[in-house]
Amino acid sequence: MTCPAGTTPEAAGSAAARTAFLELLRTRAVVRRYTREPVDDTLLDALLDVMPAAPTAANKQAWGFVAVQDPYTVRCLRAFAPGMIGLPPLVVTACFDRDRAAREDSGPTDIGLLCVAMAVQNLLLAAHATGLGGCPVSSFSRTAVRRLLALPPRLEPVLLVPVGHPADPVRPSARRHRDEVIRHGTWTPPADDSTGPDR
Ligand SMILES: Cc1cc2nc3c(=O)[nH]c(=O)nc-3n(C[C@H](O)[C@H](O)[C@H](O)COP(=O)(O)O)c2cc1C
Repeated sequence: MTCPAGTTPEAAGSAAARTAFLELLRTRAVVRRYTREPVDDTLLDALLDVMPAAPTAANKQAWGFVAVQDPYTVRCLRAFAPGMIGLPPLVVTACFDRDRAAREDSGPTDIGLLCVAMAVQNLLLAAHATGLGGCPVSSFSRTAVRRLLALPPRLEPVLLVPVGHPADPVRPSARRHRDEVIRHGTWTPPADDSTGPDR
């Protein structure tokens, strides 16, 4: 293996891995339309594995996930979710676990929702890394999904995540300019910003 001067093959490898990982983060986008190809079991396993690896407040792990591949149930989920556009081969329902969150001195529910969102982000990034794509969907009937999936009262469905092979090329959408949303040290505008100190 050819290495830049002064680096070991291991260091060069990890630098390449770092670059690839950062590129992965930059190139992600939601995928709303899928081919009919199913998600094979090895890939499914890898995706499900990374969700509970997410950060979780006080290590409560106050979450629960239901992976659905049965085509009829997937169709039902979609029928209850106006926010789900395409028909995916897989839907993961990410839930907040009220009972686990309530143990000991618990923070607000919002914190638990953040943990679920982080687990979903892991799933979405793993999907992107493996050539799949997905979309967090918050627009759905909680009552209908709860009944369909036989969720116990302690599990609150937070996001549905349709996942599948992208039917179209994955294209990151436009973002606000980084100078508009990122500052260093304090929230002072960049030197060439003429919009004033409150912006
Ligand atoms: C909490 C949350 C809920 C969302 N709910 C929906 C949804 O119900 N339907 C949908 O099509 N997209 C949904 N999205 C995806 C956003 O529309 C999408 O992330 C945004 O348009 C930016 O596109 P990008 O992720 O490809 O950059 C949701 C995203 C988040 C973070």
